[in-house]
Amino acid sequence: MIIAANFKTNHTRASTKEYISTLSQFIKSNDIKDEVYIFPTASSLDEFKTQANVTVGTQNAYGVKNGSFTGEIGLEQLEEFNIKTILIGHSERRALGDDNTLVKSKFDFFKKNNFKIIYCVGESLETREKGLDEVRKFLYNQLDSIDLNYDNLVIAYEPIWAIGTGVSATIAIIDETLNLLANKTTKPILYGGSVKVETIKETISLKNCSGVLVGSASWNIFNFCKMLHEI
Ligand code: PGA
Repeated sequence: MIIAANFKTNHTRASTKEYISTLSQFIKSNDIKDEVYIFPTASSLDEFKTQANVTVGTQNAYGVKNGSFTGEIGLEQLEEFNIKTILIGHSERRALGDDNTLVKSKFDFFKKNNFKIIYCVGESLETREKGLDEVRKFLYNQLDSIDLNYDNLVIAYEPIWAIGTGVSATIAIIDETLNLLANKTTKPILYGGSVKVETIKETISLKNCSGVLVGSASWNIFNFCKMLHEI
């Protein structure tokens, strides 16, 4: 299973270091074999000493090696810490201005540089309320803008209406939507959107679920360890 923690704008450099150190000890002493990804803030990126199955990635970056792009980080800043994993297309980034063209250009750039890409897709409540056909059209359209044959690709299905709300999509909705996505791609598919200790087991038991992308419930290390214990 894949379990990924998205810190968003939480944790400092110091608390991230402490978090990853506690996590590493937990993974070692419990012999956890799952693939674990941590996405700290850009200012907390570093070359961490951790277990082989723990990967630190970036929540975002601009698709350039370096240059004049005020406020952005590029490939050179990621290479300093050997970061080779990125989240692309998260709905919170799309809401802040990453439109389809920008998302696609980031995807193409980091693909060219052999990054592992976790590509996020997910519909709004408005689209969900129009029915499954509309949801399918919307999600397929998001998938159509990237190269689904890219080897190092993982898809994360994150319905916008379930992110950060504390209310996950129902298991039936997750199941039905992951099945839709699996008709279109053979890549591993994660579910994200208010995943909690209480819901993780049922979610990952679904046929087309290869793991979870966790936001708020991952920010407390003890809670995240409980989740790792559940899977
Ligand atoms: P959440 O965030 O778990 O707080 O809903 C998930 C995500 O945005 O990746």
